[in-house]
Amino acid sequence: MAAEGVEDRRRVPMVHVCAGIPARPRTTAGGNRRMLDTATSFRLSEVIGALSHALDLTEGQPVGHSQRSCMIGMELGARLGLPGEVLRDLFYAILLKDAGCSSSAARMCELFATDDRALKRDFAFVDWTSTADFVRYAARNVAPGQSAFSRAGSLLRALRGIAREADDLNNARCDRGARIVAMLGFPPAASEAVRALDEHWDGSGRPDGLVGDAIPLISRIACLSQTAEIFMSADGPRAALDVVRERRGRWFDPEISDLFLAIGPDDPLWTRLAGDSVAEALRDLEPRDGIAMADEEGLDRVAEAFASVIDTKSPYTARHSTGVATYAVAIGAEMGFDALRLRSLRRAGLLHDIGKLGVSNLILDKQGKLTDEEFREVRNHPLYTHQILSRMDAFADIAEAAASHHERIDGRGYHRGIGGDRLGTEARILAVADVYEALTADRPYRGPMPRETALGILWKDAGTAFDPECVAALQVASAELDGQV
Ligand SMILES: [Fe+2]
Ligand SMILES: [Fe+2]
Repeated sequence: MAAEGVEDRRRVPMVHVCAGIPARPRTTAGGNRRMLDTATSFRLSEVIGALSHALDLTEGQPVGHSQRSCMIGMELGARLGLPGEVLRDLFYAILLKDAGCSSSAARMCELFATDDRALKRDFAFVDWTSTADFVRYAARNVAPGQSAFSRAGSLLRALRGIAREADDLNNARCDRGARIVAMLGFPPAASEAVRALDEHWDGSGRPDGLVGDAIPLISRIACLSQTAEIFMSADGPRAALDVVRERRGRWFDPEISDLFLAIGPDDPLWTRLAGDSVAEALRDLEPRDGIAMADEEGLDRVAEAFASVIDTKSPYTARHSTGVATYAVAIGAEMGFDALRLRSLRRAGLLHDIGKLGVSNLILDKQGKLTDEEFREVRNHPLYTHQILSRMDAFADIAEAAASHHERIDGRGYHRGIGGDRLGTEARILAVADVYEALTADRPYRGPMPRETALGILWKDAGTAFDPECVAALQVASAELDGQV
């Protein structure tokens, strides 16, 4: 059976399903660079589970929100007696339910003149189907720190903006999330479930105002699970039970609500949800008859999908991550990297800014000079990148390089201020690729800088900020790439 499993993994190159226990990653003696071969495969639930932390950050939720929602959903799915394949779709649909969340962050931030994460965090507690509740929510959050007069004007503008754009913002979020789930290779049932996540049993939801059984079952379970988790994390199990009781038959399917209410405040589920080993608990909840695995090509696809989530967060950096990955690979190839090393470098390029999902668009998209506090927050994004990537076996080998893309060889970069010998070649390449992409990309507020001008800027700082060898490699490689990125 084991030999068969290996054969299967070799034949199916993308995210796929196989029976049994996953193969563990092999590492070199140094442990830093994984031996990439066709038999290396990772349990997909661990990869997606860890990356769901980045989605939690973007939603302003406590880390682990998606995983805990998944635990609640799987408990309900088991009590409903759902078959294995539906449970599997439910499992991944909940973990990836917020994959489209970054698409509305910038505009929400702009409309309300406040931190999008705080805005989203508070929104999760609001019954937005009630106009009065929504207006109170808007009044509470709009333009904090401004005068009462100014806030009143901002409130009017925000409410007018939402009235005009709510459908577009919501559709973009739902469609984007569904597209990411499909991009990862999950069945249509999982992506459709993500699209219909905010539909309500009584038809008051969105994006299509579906009613009752017309809402996919997985969406009905996921909608209740995420709301229950938010209230539980804030105020304990009784708050979760209260909100489900209160919204039963309005937001939530009555039958699923009753199953949830039957759990009761003393059920061991709450202890498991409050514990530190949610990731381990989730591992046991994935349907045993079809554990999804990701081989190396599957991991490439995961990195591409999350690069798309990152790039969608800000209109000013659309395609930044894919561009950095392309330039980094071109530099690495010019410097003689082999295919395995280039593959890791590409993933590091795709995911280097994943920590930005934890930074408010109020800061990321600010046109003026950043305050000291704002700059401190920006400087933390490589740290968040490291925290997110290093917790996964699948991407731990790229965490160090990805999180060092703002370091300088003279040690005056961030987030740790390391330089010299402590800065690996991959990190030096990413630093060059990152700045070159930023300078040459087309932005809403300016056109792309010509290649020669951008290279001139990099050469000016070669030897202090940038490694001259990497800049020289980029100079050669970018001539061929010009116009292709
Ligand atoms: Fe960055
Ligand atoms: Fe970047």
